[in-house]
Amino acid sequence: MSDAESIRPMTPAAAKILVFDSGLGGLTVFTEVAKLRSHAALFYCADDAGFPYGPLSDEALVARVMEVMEKRVAELAPDLVVVACNTAATLALPHLRARWPQIPFVGTVPAIKPAAEHSRSRLISVLATPGTVARDYTRGLIASFAGDCEVTLVGSPRLARLAEDFMRGAAVFEEAIAREIAPCFVTRDDARTDVVVLACTHYPLLLDYFRRLSPWPVEWIDPAPAIARQADRLLAERFGPDREAEAPKPRAIFTSGARPEPALAAALTRMGFSPA
Ligand code: DGL
Repeated sequence: MSDAESIRPMTPAAAKILVFDSGLGGLTVFTEVAKLRSHAALFYCADDAGFPYGPLSDEALVARVMEVMEKRVAELAPDLVVVACNTAATLALPHLRARWPQIPFVGTVPAIKPAAEHSRSRLISVLATPGTVARDYTRGLIASFAGDCEVTLVGSPRLARLAEDFMRGAAVFEEAIAREIAPCFVTRDDARTDVVVLACTHYPLLLDYFRRLSPWPVEWIDPAPAIARQADRLLAERFGPDREAEAPKPRAIFTSGARPEPALAAALTRMGFSPA
């Protein structure tokens, strides 16, 4: 080996990032993470065997998230985990951080602070799963950041499933979507809701429908880019900026072991995943 070769730095190992959700919603966050960390080794885990998380009791949800994460951490040894699920993050983050103190966990929690900053009418709505709207965590965010707003919490029982159906190529029922978002639109005297927080990662998948089916235009807040920036900052502290590294194509893991339907497989391929 020549001197030049011996002092050439080795290609650094790619940072391993795991993005996790109950289903396909976390792909909205994955896409943003992949833009900032294109040289990382990216993994996406959908707990489709446990979907939906929205109606689960607190105990059942924590137990499920810990069980899935136990397997993924053992299998992948991620350097950072993004819990791309409001329903899970608003409850399970302390448990995850206590179990794996060496791994940074970035959570997805309702973007109530930016919503309050953007609202002029002071009428804002939080569109989430029934689990997320019931959480103390969500009420705490409202008390801390939106004390002077009237906040309408809308726990939708069906939207996450509708988003899954859409991604898997099933027919989309616009009346059903319109019904689920309708309670977000509130009027008080001359004022009306002007900002809606997308507090479930599945919902941005249906954003085109939401815009079309809204009774009036509002600002929809999707926190995915901000979550990706937070993950990027934490990775930068440990690994430096995203840079050329040997990284495989992103891999999608479905806890059910089922093969994605053709429409979903095509969408995953477009997002850069290696074929299932
Ligand atoms: N994507 C999840 C969230 O952000 C929830 C969907 C579900 O499993 O009910 O809350």
